[in-house]
Amino acid sequence: MLPMVGSTREWWRDAVVYQVYPRSFADSDGDGVGDLAGLTARLPYIASLGVDGMWITPFQPSPQIDQGYDVSDYCGVDPLFGTMHDFEQLLEAAHSMGLRVLMDIAPNHCSSEHPLFQAALEAGPGSAERDVFHFEDGPDGETPPNNWVSSFGDRSWTRAHPSSETDLQWYLHIFSPAQPDWNWRNPVVHDFFDEVLRFWFDKGVDGLRVDVAHGLFKTEGLPDAENPGAVVKGLRFNPHMTDQEELHDVYRRWRRIADEYTPTRVLAGEVNLDADRAARLVRADEMHQAFAYPFVKIPWDAEQWKSTAERLAEAHADVGAFPAWSIENHDVVRAVTRYGGGPTGLSRARAALLIVLGFPGAAYIYQGQELGLPEVDVPVDARVDPMWLKGGVSRDGTRVPLPWTTAQEGTFGFSSIDADASWLPTPPSWGEHSIEAQRTSDGSTMGFVARVLALRKNLRADGTLALDKSVRWQAKDDVLTVERGNRFLMVMAMGDHPAPLPAGELMIASGPSTADGLLPPDTAAWIRLRGR
Ligand code: NOJ
Repeated sequence: MLPMVGSTREWWRDAVVYQVYPRSFADSDGDGVGDLAGLTARLPYIASLGVDGMWITPFQPSPQIDQGYDVSDYCGVDPLFGTMHDFEQLLEAAHSMGLRVLMDIAPNHCSSEHPLFQAALEAGPGSAERDVFHFEDGPDGETPPNNWVSSFGDRSWTRAHPSSETDLQWYLHIFSPAQPDWNWRNPVVHDFFDEVLRFWFDKGVDGLRVDVAHGLFKTEGLPDAENPGAVVKGLRFNPHMTDQEELHDVYRRWRRIADEYTPTRVLAGEVNLDADRAARLVRADEMHQAFAYPFVKIPWDAEQWKSTAERLAEAHADVGAFPAWSIENHDVVRAVTRYGGGPTGLSRARAALLIVLGFPGAAYIYQGQELGLPEVDVPVDARVDPMWLKGGVSRDGTRVPLPWTTAQEGTFGFSSIDADASWLPTPPSWGEHSIEAQRTSDGSTMGFVARVLALRKNLRADGTLALDKSVRWQAKDDVLTVERGNRFLMVMAMGDHPAPLPAGELMIASGPSTADGLLPPDTAAWIRLRGR
């Protein structure tokens, strides 16, 4: 039984979930890569922040070409991260601390080392094994079956056997060649994933974050793309790889499986679609949550924050759901750096986090966000992200191991290995951002986040932040204002001038507020309204 935080049936609706990137959280065995035992040992830290649960990115067996998003065994634990026993201990320890555990599932593609893909390669053209993936003939040995470009920037087809003169088939991978896409029009794939879901749900995991949830189906016939290299909002966009109608049946089927458990196991989709389309995937009988994707890219602009948040909230409300808000994850530049870097970037990142924690719905915090970590400029020869290796941007800078201590030697408490021997090197200044440094410093970002989460919990408990209250969004003179019900108001000053603080009790601010009733630029506040 989970104490307190887990006791409501729909705990996930307004939960705060901490995203753990296990490679970079804590290394217990000194190999320079974080692991499950390291995470278990430091769970008290996560619990001390006051979150409701955590989402752990992939730890299943994998050649690690895409840092675990290339899974070769969906029901195992990669020895790099430990054993199944380590996972069971982690789950038990987390539950005993009242923390829910979500893990990642990557259903769009597996690893090219996966036994079913290996069997498909072996079986040859026309076989049932090949139909589990997208194998297609090309016109000759040189030209792929269509013109699609992968999300990592190169072509999305690779020859099954490049030197064969008889097998001229290619397989589809919308990410790297090491990540062949499953053919979701084959019922075998549905049955396979049903088992995977049940395996982890039976073990006691509380939910799954569904990788590339919008992408499983491709347009029938795999036609050429009109604009194969299109990039929309910083991401490759090909309508043939996204948002196909058949998705809904998959998530309905998964929801039925999730609902066999009490409380329901949560399905949180990585859904990279605009608000209206994303909301269709979280209708009452589909997934529980979709990440509010637009927010990980949105610039510092009150009008855009208002319109984006309002649209997301309204589209979700129309289907009886709430967004899963987040401004950071392991794929995007850290908020501090995105919002301008230095003290300004940090002020804005703190303000932005305070605001999303007050939005109606769930919120996700990426490890290190609570420390105000900036993006690291990882030395070029130390970068390992396949996106970078394929000529795109590098996501390594947001994945650098977490600094635990101020110790000048090694990896700041992450691992016992030398600083430049960890899987990504930690920069020399890393210790100043560390948990140890922030624990003892007044006004640290970590202390601020813990205070906000405690306050949020109280306001959930006393009904102030009840999800059925109406929400009013406003952007005026570079100031974003969000009012929930008649007792809770948030203000964020996003221009170069202070914002007037409305009358009421200042419950918390993301930075120092002035005595004269003004909120400085790049600062946000929560206000308790009275007598209304
Ligand atoms: C989204 C994951 O968050 C990212 O890290 C990964 O590279 C792609 N999906 C492919 O699985």
